Amino acid sequence: MTVFIDLCACDIRLVFLEMRMRQARDSFVKNGMQDARTKSTNVEDADMVNQEQFWDGVAPKYAKSPIKNMEGYEYTLNQTRSFLKETDLVLEIGAGTGSTALALADSVAQIVATDISEQMLAVGRIRAKEQGVKNIRFQRTEADRLPEGPFDAVMAHNVLHLVEDLPATLRACHASLRPGGLLISKTFLKPTNGLQLMYRFMCLVLPIMQWLGKAPFVVFYSAQEFERTIECAGFEIIETANYPATEARRYIVARKR
Ligand SMILES: C[S@@+](CC[C@H](N)C(=O)[O-])C[C@H]1O[C@@H](n2cnc3c(N)ncnc32)[C@H](O)[C@@H]1O
Repeated sequence: MTVFIDLCACDIRLVFLEMRMRQARDSFVKNGMQDARTKSTNVEDADMVNQEQFWDGVAPKYAKSPIKNMEGYEYTLNQTRSFLKETDLVLEIGAGTGSTALALADSVAQIVATDISEQMLAVGRIRAKEQGVKNIRFQRTEADRLPEGPFDAVMAHNVLHLVEDLPATLRACHASLRPGGLLISKTFLKPTNGLQLMYRFMCLVLPIMQWLGKAPFVVFYSAQEFERTIECAGFEIIETANYPATEARRYIVARKR
């Protein structure tokens, strides 16, 4: 239940997003993971607005909710820190209320923390000010339209399963990175052990939750298809792990080829 609540810490409004999730997924499989995009620009823009509204709407609640698994979170932070240098310019996508950027700000030169939700970012700006952190710039940006780099690293924690067009998002990350730069991600994937029952339950309940506006757009990739998509976008995977091992959250570090 924790995973489900975690995923749905925020909420979606339109039932057609669920249909679009299926379309994107079908297309993703049909086109050999090359391009899950099958829709017109106008429809995409409308979806982006809806997603933005959804995440804006849940931002106050999200900002107040405590981190569910502090041990796993700390572990992820420490692992991520070990890949970063003090001179690094880092881009974060789906930065939310800035918790990760704030925790890592003293380990790098600068972080550009981006998110589709201005309301999420507004919380991050206030927190940065309260904590006297000056090397984070908060910028509203969709995950597949990222600022020009070159960045030394792109962090994508708990967001890649939420984007509608994963290949386009990964291509945007790739384009923002310097050669040899790192994509550091943690993503909820289809579980292979332990959480099978929970996953089946989620698959049953999620469309209803989405219809009710209580769950976000989400795609459950298998670890294999997810990693293959990262590689297809021009990355070499250099580390994979589940932190903690019982959770279906995959930590992946990939280097730009
Ligand atoms: C589950 S929260 C994770 C926040 C933060 N990374 C963390 O680990 O605590 C997902 C975040 O991704 C953002 N998001 C969802 N879809 C996005 C998109 N297409 N482009 C950019 N950000 C997006 C949401 O606004 C939200 O802040």
